[in-house]
Amino acid sequence: MEKDWNFDEIIDRSNTGSMKWEPSVLVSQFGVDREALLPLWVADMDFYCPTVVRKAMEDRMAHQIYGYTIQDKGHDEALIDWYGRRHNWEIKSGWILNTPGVVPAVNYLVQRFTQPGDGVIIQTPVYYPFAAAIRKNGRQIIDNPLQIVNHRYEMDFKDLARKAADPRAKMVILCSPHNPVGRVWTREELEAFGKICIDNNVLIFADEIHCDLVMPGFKHTSFQSISKQFAENSIAANAASKTFNLAGLSHSSLVVPNPGLRNELGVYFETLGMNTRGSGSLFGAIATRAAYEMAEPWLWDLISYLNENYTYLKHRVESGLPGVKVYDLEATYLPWMDFRELGLSSEKIVDIVEKEAGLALDHGDWFGENGAGFERVNIACPKGLLEKAVDALVNAFQPYL
Ligand SMILES: Cc1ncc(COP(=O)(O)O)c(C=O)c1O
Repeated sequence: MEKDWNFDEIIDRSNTGSMKWEPSVLVSQFGVDREALLPLWVADMDFYCPTVVRKAMEDRMAHQIYGYTIQDKGHDEALIDWYGRRHNWEIKSGWILNTPGVVPAVNYLVQRFTQPGDGVIIQTPVYYPFAAAIRKNGRQIIDNPLQIVNHRYEMDFKDLARKAADPRAKMVILCSPHNPVGRVWTREELEAFGKICIDNNVLIFADEIHCDLVMPGFKHTSFQSISKQFAENSIAANAASKTFNLAGLSHSSLVVPNPGLRNELGVYFETLGMNTRGSGSLFGAIATRAAYEMAEPWLWDLISYLNENYTYLKHRVESGLPGVKVYDLEATYLPWMDFRELGLSSEKIVDIVEKEAGLALDHGDWFGENGAGFERVNIACPKGLLEKAVDALVNAFQPYL
């Protein structure tokens, strides 16, 4: 593939309806006009998607009929090939159910596989729509907080065993790799996690949306690839949307190897009016197929660009702000920064980030109480932009060191 991308290019995203750059809806929620801030928050990238993806959509667009569409066999084959080749995960055709996003899917699964009042386990600090899906559907959050051991997050298996044995616990949401702490769970960790959940009859939902954004030196293990037993007791979610910057196309897939679960979900989707075999997003499926079939070289280059951005961030923040720690980034483009040693309240940290540095970041306590004092920063942007943001951050915190 001829290189036709330039991640250094600063692209104007104004007037495109970008949630990250035009978040006027969020102003009242946060009390600050976040539109005036430099945005390094929502997890999409300030890069063009691969040209081959755009071209595939343009070819289809030229036809000018965008009617009801059946699930594209080519899409499923491309997905099966991608996960088989890259993750050693053998997905069978027929296991794939398309959904209009992973967050909608989390909500469907909570609704279908738990009852009001049941418990769903999450591991905070974690992607906040999980807690929202549980709470808004009238279920209870059972938290199995991650532990920090030598500046690295680990799962607390003893606590998980206790929580999974709670008779209310019917489902667990695994975030693998983990947003926001950047961990790639090892095979051993996933084995221990899976065994506890299965022994306690807790259905596992494995959100693996970040699995292709793994930094050099780390290896993602697909939960369902571990064993037949793990595959049959879980539902996995994946999407090309994070990896190739396609989130606005509203397309993702569930992988459901267990025919009983698949059947229940299929029937449920139909009662929701969502045809499992058909609808989903026409252009989302086209883009996903094109990305999996043709855009891997773009992804290799992206990973090394993100890794350089991460190295820059870590060095500049840790040398410019002694006491602030940038956690190791094993996966995602969302490094996790720990400001707790500065001895400031989390409100003050947010205040400095927004009012003095002029940055829109994801504040740590959004991800759970144990995230207070942390900030998550999105580094999937041109270096020039990142440098501007990091300079502002380092300067704003100088008086508080
Ligand atoms: C762990 C995780 N799951 C899901 C999503 C969003 O998925 P979707 O846009 O398909 O709803 C994100 C986006 O940041 C995420 O980090």
